[in-house]
Amino acid sequence: MKTLAPSILAADFSILGQQIAQIEEAGGTHLHIDVMDGVFVPSISFGFPIIKSIRKKSKLYFDVHLMITAPERYVEEFAEAGANGLTVHVEACKCMVDTLEKIRSLGMQPGVSLHPQTPVSAVIPYLENVDRVLVMTVNTGFGGQQYIEGCTKKIVMLREELDKRNLKAVLEVDGGVNRENASMILDAGADILVSGSSVFRGDLKENLSYFLNIMK
Ligand code: DX5
Ligand code: ZN
Repeated sequence: MKTLAPSILAADFSILGQQIAQIEEAGGTHLHIDVMDGVFVPSISFGFPIIKSIRKKSKLYFDVHLMITAPERYVEEFAEAGANGLTVHVEACKCMVDTLEKIRSLGMQPGVSLHPQTPVSAVIPYLENVDRVLVMTVNTGFGGQQYIEGCTKKIVMLREELDKRNLKAVLEVDGGVNRENASMILDAGADILVSGSSVFRGDLKENLSYFLNIMK
C-alpha cells in the first residue's frame, strides 16, 4: 500500500481548513507540512500557529518536514503543536542520534531527510533510528520545481538498503512529483509520495482522486 502526502506549501492559505477537509473526504491519510526558517533554506514558510490550528480540525497524520537549522531546539514545540512524524535534515543536525531519539521519546515518528546533492551514504548510519527516510528530489526549500532525474538512483539504493537489512522505515519522495513521473517513482521503491503543486494546482478534488487511485 502506497501513500500520498499532499504538501500544504502549495495550498491556498485563505481556505486552508476547507482544503484539508477535502483531503480527508477524498480518503487521504497524510498531510505534509514544510517548515522553513530562511537560514537552512532561503525561504520562510510557516510555523507553530498554523500547525496548532489545523491540528484542532484534522485527524490526518501530520508529516512535518523541518528545513531549519539546529532542529533539535524545537522538538518539544513540534510535539505540542501536534506533529505525528518529525523529519530533520542530516545536513542540519549536529547530533542526529540524540535528536532522533528525542523525537521518538516525545511520541513522534522520527525521520531523516537529505538534499539532492547529499549522497545516500550520509543517511545510512541512521536507518535503524528512523521510521522515515525522506529523499529530496528538487532543491530543498521551494515548491513547484522540476524533479531531478538523477535522484531516482538514490531512491533505488535506499530501497535496496532498507530491504537488505529488513528495516521498516518508509521511503518518502519529495519534490517535483507529478502525474507523469509518479508511477516511475513508486516503481523505484517509494512508499510515500509528497506532492504540492500537482495536488493543489487546478482541481484539488480531481487531483486527489487521480493520485489516491494510483496508490492503490
Ligand atoms: C520543498 C518541500 C516540498 C514541496 C514540494 O523543499 O520540501 O515538500 O512542497 O512541492 P512540489 O510538489 O510542488 O514540488
Ligand atoms: Zn517537504
